[in-house]
Amino acid sequence: MSTRHSNLFRQTAVSQMVAHSHLTIALAVVIVVCLFSRTPFSAASKPERASIIPRPVSIRQRQGHFTITSSTQVVAKKEATAEALKLIDALAPSMGFRLQLAARSKAQDNIIKLELDPQLPQIGDEGYTLKVTRENILIRARRPAGLFYGIQTLRQLLPPSIFRKAKVEGVTWKVPGVEITDYPRFKWRGLLVDPARHFIPKSALLRFIDTMSLHKLNSLQIHLTDDQGWRIEIKKYPKLTDIGARRDETLIGHLSKRPWLFDGRRHGGFYTQDDIREIVRYASDRHINIVPEIEMPGHARAAISSYPHLGVFPEKQRSLKPWTHWGVSGDIFAPRPTTIAFLQDVLSEVIQLFPSNYIHIGGDEAVKNQWKASEEIQAVIREKGLKNEEELQSWFTRQMDTFLSKHGRRLVGWDEILQGGLAPGAIVMSWRGEQGGITAANAGHDVVMAPTSHTYFDYYQGPAEKEPLAIGGYLPLRKVYHYDPVPAAIAPEKTRHVLGVQGQLWGEYISTPRHLEYMAYPRAAALAEVGWSPKRSKEYEDFLIRLRHHIGRLRAIGICYRPAESEK
Ligand code: ACM
Repeated sequence: MSTRHSNLFRQTAVSQMVAHSHLTIALAVVIVVCLFSRTPFSAASKPERASIIPRPVSIRQRQGHFTITSSTQVVAKKEATAEALKLIDALAPSMGFRLQLAARSKAQDNIIKLELDPQLPQIGDEGYTLKVTRENILIRARRPAGLFYGIQTLRQLLPPSIFRKAKVEGVTWKVPGVEITDYPRFKWRGLLVDPARHFIPKSALLRFIDTMSLHKLNSLQIHLTDDQGWRIEIKKYPKLTDIGARRDETLIGHLSKRPWLFDGRRHGGFYTQDDIREIVRYASDRHINIVPEIEMPGHARAAISSYPHLGVFPEKQRSLKPWTHWGVSGDIFAPRPTTIAFLQDVLSEVIQLFPSNYIHIGGDEAVKNQWKASEEIQAVIREKGLKNEEELQSWFTRQMDTFLSKHGRRLVGWDEILQGGLAPGAIVMSWRGEQGGITAANAGHDVVMAPTSHTYFDYYQGPAEKEPLAIGGYLPLRKVYHYDPVPAAIAPEKTRHVLGVQGQLWGEYISTPRHLEYMAYPRAAALAEVGWSPKRSKEYEDFLIRLRHHIGRLRAIGICYRPAESEK
């Protein structure tokens, strides 16, 4: 990390402290004003404002409130029981007691009831209804995921200190009276993390997953392989992690800044298969699907460093090492039968580990100079009757598409997989703007919108001179919030092909879990609303009011979010 970088972090910490002391003064002022006001309790007679993020489809606030005490029972049976236990686990640390679970209850008072009803109309598999009265709380859903999201809303209806991890004294756990009907706009509400560039410890990944679930985000793409590192244990090819998971040192400062300086320290790490099983299960307990990404044919330097025969020029690539700086390396997999077999072996282990319907094979930024320079590869192009290198990449992708389809999975790739012809079952992730997504959706392919312009969370979120070093760009909160994943250029009958939206946290300049949170929040909260809330209900000013309250939750959890200008 550069000096400039760490200094800026220190500044942020200081400004947060300053903000806290401002807050204390502000609170003192409020208390004094209340004490001397003639009608100090008039505000309390109005229902409290529920600051739920993402904003629910429909919310009606009611008079009164329900109070959770140690004698409140949670009532759930069969499949609902697992979700009820998650509710009990979530409330226990800060409340300091564990609510009792019962399969049924004679009393209708002082209970939180979770109920599954597959016949509930119009809310889909992730929707729920939540009703809070003075007597009880009722959450209903068609599927367990809906109950889980109802629970997330309930947590947000409680005071922010519910998110603390040890008993909080002196709080009454009041839930305001409310009637909510809620369901998501899109089925893919995702984020991407990039442990290939800077390894993300498993513990940080689990914490990241926790925070996602609070925002009703349900898809996490993990970019497991790149030029700078290979981060997943593959039993058949141990050198991928023996060699590919370590690099000698890492560039300090921005790639564009010369002369280059390096930190002189080894950087590495990978997830064992047991780690992966744990991450996948932890995520699925929170109704989050992990989408693994194994990059091909480009971004392949760490793999080729481990097994040089996978490269186009194995003799020359014998001494190749995982890259120590950013950019896109020219090292690309050779489209030989041995490489295809190798990658399908890797994918075999990947699909054993990840139950995800979607398997991402990258496909972006495949620099084709080595294919162009190789007599052998040019002969492959001629033999297969292909026109050029783009068609060769398309052929390469089709080998993977056929393989994945045979195993009941769907291939996802960045929008470059459109060039040279799209494989039949492929899903396109549109990153170079929206055009890839528009073309693919209009051609009847499913797409996920992830354009740099609105979803690249590795971009600056404020003036560069005041922010930690980033890759470039400028993506403020407001712009994320205003994104609409369904561009007008997609024909109305094709809009159903837009599965949803994803925010990218590329890791070149994000070297610590703390920085990852800083880049993710609050932008991921805005993205959550883009992915979940109805388009008609989006209102930035209203979001900002709710966000102010929501920040209290992030603080209680200890998320290192980026403070707003007014908070600094
Ligand atoms: C990408 O940002 N290369 C997908």
